[in-house]
Amino acid sequence: MSKRVAASLVAGAMVVALSACGSGGGSADGKDSGHKLTVGFSQVGAESGWRTANTKSVQDAAKKAGITLKFSDAQQKQENQIKAIRSFIQQKVDVIAFSPVVESGWDTVLKEAKDAHIPVVLTDRAVDSKDDSLYVSFLGSDFVEEGKRAGDWLVKEYQGRTDPVNIVELQGTTGSAPANDRKSGFTDVIKADAKFKIVASQTGDFTRAKGKEVMQAFLKSQPKIDVLYAHNDDMALGAIQAIEEAGKKPGVDIKIISVDGVKDAFTAMSQGKINVDVECNPLLGDQLMDLVKKVKAGEQVPRRIKTQEGVFTQDQAAAALPTRQY
Ligand code: AHR
Repeated sequence: MSKRVAASLVAGAMVVALSACGSGGGSADGKDSGHKLTVGFSQVGAESGWRTANTKSVQDAAKKAGITLKFSDAQQKQENQIKAIRSFIQQKVDVIAFSPVVESGWDTVLKEAKDAHIPVVLTDRAVDSKDDSLYVSFLGSDFVEEGKRAGDWLVKEYQGRTDPVNIVELQGTTGSAPANDRKSGFTDVIKADAKFKIVASQTGDFTRAKGKEVMQAFLKSQPKIDVLYAHNDDMALGAIQAIEEAGKKPGVDIKIISVDGVKDAFTAMSQGKINVDVECNPLLGDQLMDLVKKVKAGEQVPRRIKTQEGVFTQDQAAAALPTRQY
């Protein structure tokens, strides 16, 4: 993969023969020749409302599919994920699924899984590796597209205006696919118009506490902030607290663009505190279990499976709130 796994996967959406990854025969019903499938799942952590919903979705779906799930929470640390994957290899699980906390540094451990003939499925986030044979499929959102959608909203919102628009950016976890891609997608769109200026940009690690802390620092250091672009809802919600404590009105004095679309953010939107939310769907469990069964059964699966998502304005969020699942 030239620069990044996601880029070439998106381009191709190729289908590969899974036998190349050492997966054996079997059936697509949660059992392989009569034995119950075991999946080792290494989760990023519990840093956000999105993540909690994603964990529940995966755990519920495994139960429903009759799959034994060995779950490991990496607490946002790559070293913990590497340890978990090694332990899954030792335990000889049927398939390893994982959501990589950062994009780079996976080749060695993924090669170990390949040598042990255990297929690997990426879920939610991509890895940056030149070796395409280290995993069989990647199921998750298109984060570059999410960044572009955020930028498109901003361009439309300020159409016809010429005065400078000062933007502060709360980035996700440094080195993670969503932080890298949401930044690049957004920047690609807004760079066409010189009035948009990112005056400050820092990581808030996808958490509410850090989002608040960094926003407090932005409010002190920046004399004029027009827009906050937060890479996820938890950071936006933390920033809202900081903005209110500084005596300003979130959504009015400072417009807020966020990503995810969790219930708490929809509530804030219905109160006028977030202006737009770009959806990122965490409910990947059922699709992941289907994929795992097919992989183990030796069926062909798409190399890249993208989640379908939308963009919510305040009115749309208020209407969707009563039925929002996460
Ligand atoms: O990888 C998905 C991102 O990770 C979500 O946007 C964020 O909330 C989570 O922590």
